Parts: sequence; structure tokens; C-alpha cells
Amino acid sequence: MNLDAFVSGLPKAELHLHIEGSLEPEMMFALAARNKVEIPFKSVEEVRAAYEFSNLQDFLDIYYAGANVLRSEWDFCDLATAYFDRAAADNVRHAEIFFDPQTHTDRGIPFDVAIDGLLAGMASAEAKHGLTSKLILCFLRHLDEEAAFATLKAAEPWLDRIAAVGLDSSELGHPPSKFERVFARAGEMGLLRVAHAGEEGPADYVHEALDLLHVDRLDHGNRSLDDPALTARLARSGMTLTVCPLSNLKLCVVDDIDAHPIERMLRAGLRATINSDDPAYFGGYVNDNYRALIPAGRLDAKDFARLARNSFLGSFLPDDAVAKHL
Ligand code: ADE
Ligand code: ZN
Repeated sequence: MNLDAFVSGLPKAELHLHIEGSLEPEMMFALAARNKVEIPFKSVEEVRAAYEFSNLQDFLDIYYAGANVLRSEWDFCDLATAYFDRAAADNVRHAEIFFDPQTHTDRGIPFDVAIDGLLAGMASAEAKHGLTSKLILCFLRHLDEEAAFATLKAAEPWLDRIAAVGLDSSELGHPPSKFERVFARAGEMGLLRVAHAGEEGPADYVHEALDLLHVDRLDHGNRSLDDPALTARLARSGMTLTVCPLSNLKLCVVDDIDAHPIERMLRAGLRATINSDDPAYFGGYVNDNYRALIPAGRLDAKDFARLARNSFLGSFLPDDAVAKHL
């Protein structure tokens, strides 16, 4: 079997997926029509042509604008269903998906509308594909601590349906320390914790995510490699990194996919996983991200099997459920 088919067929978990980032241009147009929302594009081709980013902020500006077509529970359910159908085709057996409630509540869409729709999509994916999933509520780090606390409050009735809190959006200038108290409160409420750190921000932000936010998993983490002591600490502690190769390429975190540091991560003993981040914007779902690493020729079948295995080990599934996937 060639490596491409081997990698595609591996059972896997996806641990870094922004559900709003799975909004394909075709669905953006369909929802704009359904909800009578104006979008600043004339065609699907024009939307795709706009997806040229030179950094994270370039992308976020378009991503938040795109989310404006999401209005009803039905829209959120359709969005989630489209993602899960696509993920199931890539042999994803379990997904832990981020959602950004503030992107919706700040434009008048109630928290309950977004979460109810997503939960309906999650239930139907389990019934249809046997694909299990968990929800991670992300705070937008460009907004303030007070807004994050308000979002945590809005989540209170849903605590049994939310696995973890996360931290996303513009990283530079918004260090994890800004959310230390919110994450402490989330921990007291029984939620697990993850954070984007070291995507564009320095290794210091990864230190803060570990020491101040007490994260259970690290999203991206690329810049940890700038700090050998930090890299050794992450390896020693078995911290999972949710790495996103095509995102790194599209957002210019790496210049060339063949120079992606995934091999260095594995050789340093890091528990790295492969994920799609915002597949509708970055040109590929999870299997495309695995396959993008083949041409460099530095990973063999054993390495890819390890990456897929890591995705279950790094998930928030209970140990007995993880064991069934290995
Ligand atoms: N929100 C959606 N995708 C993101 C990313 N890659 N980094 C930070 N925030 C995001
Ligand atoms: Zn992300």
C-alpha cells in the first residue's frame, strides 16, 4: 500500500478544529440567501480568491466576517453536520471541536442558539457515522477579561455538554496571562483547559499557558521549539500539541510545507497530533494535512501511525474509550 492510502485510512481523532472555520464558501452563499444577509462577494470563486493571508490577523478579519451568515440553530446544525460528514470520510472517529460564542453573541445571536445547533449536529454525527465528539468553548483573546467572564457565565447551564475552555483569536499582544483568572474559574467549574500558544506568539506565551492557565493540551505550540528547555519540559510531561500544517503554511507560520517542524517535534519526543484548524479557509481537511507532510520524505508509515495514535492519546476521552481506538 502506498503511504498516501495508508495515511488516509488510519483511524484518527481531530483535536483542533474551529467549527466556524469549516464554513465552506458554498454554504456561506446558501446561508446568506436563507437568512437574507449581504456578503461582500459575488461568487464562490471570488470568496476562494480572497483566501490569501500573510498572517493570522489577515485571516481572522475574513473569518469573523464569514461567520455573520450563521443566524439560527438550523444553520449551526447544518455547519456541524457538513464538517462531521467530511471528517467521517477521512476516517475521523472522534472530534473535539472549538466554537467561539462571542463571535455570535456580540452580533445578537444568543449563546443557546449556537450551542443547541452544534449539539444537534454532534448527536446526528454519532448516530449516522458513529463519530463521537466533544465541545470546547473558546474565549476570544482580543476581547477583555470581563467579556470572557460573561461568556463563562452564559455557559453555566451547559456545563455538562462542554468539555473544556480554550483561547483563540489574535495572539500577539494578548498573552495567556490576560485570562489567568478566567481559566482558574473554569478549572474550579470542572472544565478542562486548552489554549492557542506559540502559533505567532513567542515561547514565553507557551510558558504562560502552562504555568498560569494550567492547560491540559496546547494548541499549535510551534514556537516552543525556540526554547530547548521548554521543548524538553513538554516532552517529559507528555503534553499534547495540536499541530496544523496547512494552517501554518497559509498563515505564513512556516514558509514551505516541506520545512514544517513536525519531524523535529516527533524526534524531540513531543506528543504531536495533526489537525485542520479552519479547513474551509486553509485548503484541506485532516487527511489533506497528513498527506501534505508526505512529499518532504522525512516521515515514514510508523511516524504517521504515531501521529494518529497520539490524536487518541491526547483526546479528552476516558481511558477505556481511548483503548478501544488504539
Ligand atoms: N481562530 C480560528 N483559527 C485560529 C487560529 N489558527 N489561531 C487563532 N485563532 C483562531
Ligand atoms: Zn486554531
